Amino acid sequence: MKEVIKIEGGHRLNGEVSISGAKNATVALIPAAILAENSEVDIYGVPNISDVESLSVLLKELNVSVTSPSSDHFQIDTSNMKNIDLDHEAVTKLRASYYFMGSLLGKYKYVKMQMPGGCYLGPRPFDLHLKGFEALGAEVNYEAGYYEIKADRLIGSKIYLDFQSVGATINIMLAAVLAEGKTMIENAAKEPEIIDVANFLNNMGANIRGAGTSVITIEGVESLTGHPHEIIPDRIEAGTYLIMAVAMADDVTIKNIIPQHIESLISKLIEMGANIEVGMDYARIRRSDDLEAIDITTQTYPGFATDLQQPLTSLLVKAKGSSNIKETIYAERFKHCEELQRMGADITILPSQAIINGPKSLYGSKVEATDLRGGASMVIAGLMADGITEIHEVYHIDRGYHNIDEKLEALGAKMWRETIE
Ligand code: EPU
Repeated sequence: MKEVIKIEGGHRLNGEVSISGAKNATVALIPAAILAENSEVDIYGVPNISDVESLSVLLKELNVSVTSPSSDHFQIDTSNMKNIDLDHEAVTKLRASYYFMGSLLGKYKYVKMQMPGGCYLGPRPFDLHLKGFEALGAEVNYEAGYYEIKADRLIGSKIYLDFQSVGATINIMLAAVLAEGKTMIENAAKEPEIIDVANFLNNMGANIRGAGTSVITIEGVESLTGHPHEIIPDRIEAGTYLIMAVAMADDVTIKNIIPQHIESLISKLIEMGANIEVGMDYARIRRSDDLEAIDITTQTYPGFATDLQQPLTSLLVKAKGSSNIKETIYAERFKHCEELQRMGADITILPSQAIINGPKSLYGSKVEATDLRGGASMVIAGLMADGITEIHEVYHIDRGYHNIDEKLEALGAKMWRETIE
């Protein structure tokens, strides 16, 4: 028995949708919260996604209590925490479980956990995280599927990242906040989620400067204490709804966004000919016809986000001309293109590149959510297509999109779930 999403395409979208808390901030904030010493941490704006459920399971494994006084409010209490080996299957359900490496190492100078999982987007090494831990004085061993990372003392150090990795930047910050002395991360990633995690840690008593720039300095402190935090809005969810609206809206307003976080997407959509009005914390999209092809190259922030490349591909199918997508972050992030081809798209897939020839009309078909953002790409294609699209492996979508069915139905989409053999 498994669940599929069915979408009857062709219905125009109208109304308002509100964006939830950022998944990629949340999945770091929850492991970061365990750095608080014997105290309660309140996090607001937690999205209802399965990645959060997996992380909650891991908190409970560590004897950390998690309660939800209201749907998006998490109360995490570390008073009875124990540092046990993380071997629960939840570790393998998402990649971000590796943030427990940084926070447990930082707090206890010891962590043992299984290999983390996550979307397959081609090889996703985390050597830079491990090199960072080693630079702080830790010893890393990998044996029989487990990482064991330990240190007598963690001592601040200068760390240059060969690549501006989001995960390595955050993980090193987590390990360094309680280290002795000063850590400097050079060539750090600049994504907004990193700033959110740094703000969270600073409010708990950490001393982190420069988050959001390529040089972050962390002055180690003795201990951290819980402090309430509101998660920033999810720029990738916002971008996904923006793309859907450009594809299918008569008049849609997307609320609770930080437009600056999705500037690169907005300017590309405007270049395509989309009808977008951008306000302080919202974007309003009116019917956008006669879209033109564009070229994009994915880059680290503030460049065009790789996570929006997949949703955007679906929209490019209906743009006039030849669009060229270059992937510089994940060379193999093109599995969604094969699924779009099943629906009638004309896409040539090359190494690290896809060329989309349009406009083409899509027709409903059986397709797979090959990964989280590939799933978003299928939902957008399903909304655009003639007939019914059946999306398989929907658990990928539920890992990162808060209440997507309700949000889309409220906008006028026809979408439902069925259980099949
Ligand atoms: N890389 C290395 N070594 C490392 C770390 C990264 O070679 O030690 C390479 C990766 O293989 C990749 C590139 O550096 O080619 C970028 O990786 P990065 O570490 O920045 O990505 P990440 O932290 O694993 C986060 C998001 C991804 C998003 C990327 C890029 C989270 C939990 N995940 O991943 O989000 O695509 O940054 O922006 O924050 C998603 O939300 O669907 C998603 C996959």
